Formats: sequence, C-alpha cells, structure tokens
Amino acid sequence: MTLKAFRGAFLDFVDDPFYASEADSVRYLPDGLLILEDGNVKTLGAYESLRERCAGLSITAYPDRLIMPGFIDTHIHFPQTEMIAAYGAQLLEWLSKYTFPTEGKFKDKAYAQEIASFFLDELLKHGTTTALVFTTVYPQSVDAFFEEASRRHLRMIAGKVLMDRRAPDFLTDTPETAYTASKQLIEKWHKHDRLLYAITPRFAVTSSDEQLRLAGKLLAEFPDVYMHTHLSENVNEVRLVAELFPESKGYLDVYDRAGLVGDKSVFAHGVQLTDAEFQRLSEAHSAIAFCPTSNLFLGSGLFNLKKAKSVEAPVKVGLGTDVGGGTSFSMLQTASEAYKVTQLRGENLSAFQALFLATLGGARALSLENTLGNFEPGKEADFIVIDPKATPLMARRNPTAIAPSVAELADQAFATMMMGDDRAIHATYIMGELAYENKVYKQMGGA
Ligand code: GUN
Ligand code: ZN
Repeated sequence: MTLKAFRGAFLDFVDDPFYASEADSVRYLPDGLLILEDGNVKTLGAYESLRERCAGLSITAYPDRLIMPGFIDTHIHFPQTEMIAAYGAQLLEWLSKYTFPTEGKFKDKAYAQEIASFFLDELLKHGTTTALVFTTVYPQSVDAFFEEASRRHLRMIAGKVLMDRRAPDFLTDTPETAYTASKQLIEKWHKHDRLLYAITPRFAVTSSDEQLRLAGKLLAEFPDVYMHTHLSENVNEVRLVAELFPESKGYLDVYDRAGLVGDKSVFAHGVQLTDAEFQRLSEAHSAIAFCPTSNLFLGSGLFNLKKAKSVEAPVKVGLGTDVGGGTSFSMLQTASEAYKVTQLRGENLSAFQALFLATLGGARALSLENTLGNFEPGKEADFIVIDPKATPLMARRNPTAIAPSVAELADQAFATMMMGDDRAIHATYIMGELAYENKVYKQMGGA
C-alpha cells in the first residue's frame, strides 16, 4: 500500500451548479490536504484537520496554486492534431479538403503511433487527463492510440471510425468489415487497463443505413461500450441528412432507428437540434459534447446550452475541444469560448458552471462519475495543479494567488479560464504520479 499526500488550495464539484446552489455544488479548501492510497483518493479535507493522519508521510506542497480534478475532453480527434487551424471552410468542404486527406496518412501504423504519442503529451500538457477520442477508419490507428494511452496509464475512450460512403475509397470500410473489426477491437481493448471502447460511426452522412444498423447490433451485444458520433452540427449537413434518409423524422431519428441512442451515447455538437430532439436525448440519458471553439471556427452556430441544461428536460453535457475542427487543446480556452457563445445568445455561464462541465460534468456525460471527476474517496486521482498567475498579465489580474473565499475564487477562476491555456497548467498527475510538469516555470525558480 502506497500513501501520498498533497497540500494546496483545492477546488472540485460535488453537485451540478446549473441546478444546485453554489454552496451545495462547489467545494473549496483554501488550505487543503489530499491523501491518496495506491493512486486513488483516500480523503480530502482541511489541512489542519487531517495533518495528524499523515505523520511521517512526506507532503508535496503547492503554495500559490489551485489543485483541481483533471479536465475531461468529451470530443476530440487525435488524427486531426496536425491539421488544426485549416483555413476558410465550413464543415462539409473542410472535411473533404483537409480532414480526409490527413486521415489517410494513418494507414501507416508507425505514423499513427507518432501522432498518438504527441497528441497524448499535448493533452497532459493542457491538463486533460481523460478524453473521448475519434481515431480513423484504420484499426491499426486504434491500436496505436490505445498502446500509447496504456503506456501512460491513462483513462481514455476511443474507437475505430465507421465510414462506408461519401468519403474517398482509401478511407471507407463496409458494414461487415466495420462490424467485425470493431468487435475485435472491443475484445482487445475495452477495459484493458483503464481503456474503454466507443463504437464510432463518423456521422449519418458517411454511413449507410446498413452500417448504422450493424453498429446498433454491436452496441446491443456490448451494452457497456460507448457510442460516439457527430450530430446536427451544420445547416448544410442537416439538410443533406434529410435528403439521404427521407424516411427518418430528423437527424437524431436516423441514429435512433439503428438503436444508437442510449445512455452510453455521446453526440458531438447538437447545434441545430430541434426541441423534440433535445427531449429525446433527455429521455434516453444520452450526452452532448459542446464544442465551442469548433462551432465558432467552422461557423456552425451557437449551441443552446440553456436548453440542454433545462430543468424540464435535462441533457448531460460535457465540453469538447473537437481538435482539429476546434482550435485549441486547452479546456480553459474551450470554457472561455463557451462563455462567449452563451453571451452571444444573451445568456451567461459562470466560472463554476464552466469548470463543472470540464470536470464532473464531463465525467457524468461519459458515465464515469463513480470513477473520476472530483476528489470523492475511492476515485482515481488524476488531478492538475493550476497557476492562476502563470503570465505577468494574469499575475496582475489575479494578485492574490489563493482566493480567501468562494466569492473571490469565482472571480479568480473566471479570469483564469478567460486568460489561461497550457501556460497555466503547472503540473498534471495520473493516478497520483507526476505525468507532466511545466519546465518553463521550474526554470524561473518556482516551487
Ligand atoms: N462531422 C463529421 N466528421 C467530422 C469531423 O471530423 N469534425 C467535425 N467537427 N465534424 C464532423
Ligand atoms: Zn468532431
């Protein structure tokens, strides 16, 4: 049994601040102590009340830092790492002009391995410890991703992309090969170490009825794997889906008819959803990955977060970067853009609500709330150390590194989320082990 202890200011969420009061949802310990046992949380409490429990134990202290659960990115594409920030196109043109040619390179396992390794290092550097990840149509790209994630002991969810039409020949499979290859990959990777599998039809445009039907059959055979796809992102896409599936009531119904709408289903975007579709997602306990930097960059539109988080028909929501449609790996930047999307809709998003979406909210969207997402006892100790004074400008905006109260923390956390990026991530821990440390800070003589 290995015990470890960390001292600093801790912020996590014990309930959803969209529905519960700040007092009931935000946990803030300006001087806290986190005790881990074999990489899992044993307890979190005030330093003064717990210090006696760690007599003889060396304590890693982070004065002037804010410690939070690791960020959870509920939608991202590892093969699009290198084509981030591709100019001048909306979704369908962007896919054929930039995305498909890039994804073709992942037929080469060694290349896929190199990018998977770089990608996972970027995630850790940005404080993201768990993600739901698109790979490509090639099974070897799934192997490459899971091998690299396994080496780093990460909790990651991914799956082979299914596409049997409206894509270049070199990127298409068939309904049958999609089914058999996915099944083999589930047997190989699902629940191997901390890894989990997601059946991943790209979107309704690139899958035939038959391919979606077989994906639904596979999901029924393995009900504890995930289903991950795109939904109602762009107006031209929605129009095309209506043409391709004239018998369906709407975009979500295409997936519903195939048995793909359930409590382990995660749909990226949902910018163009109808009221009836929000209602259906709520009933099915499905989740939406809200990807603001992507929705703005690709000109897709402004997601209706207020509708998703309604009292009448609540839908689980996580934040997604959607790299490379999204423009940053940083969940802080993603939260910042989410705030701006709500502003453009005449609404608001508090720092606590945004940081909830990036942590416990993401865990709930991925049905992982019993495993990670906050510092409850027994949970996996993936956490990050944030520097609210990471840049000279941030240091001026946040002159007091440790906010003395929740009210002051609300202001500091908001400024950190608006201005912060990977520079504000001082360290990232995986199961209580240091996995990334900001070397620039160290060179400057920090703790
Ligand atoms: N819809 C289908 N494929 C994609 C993709 O790769 N990125 C985004 N943003 N939307 C999609
Ligand atoms: Zn995407």
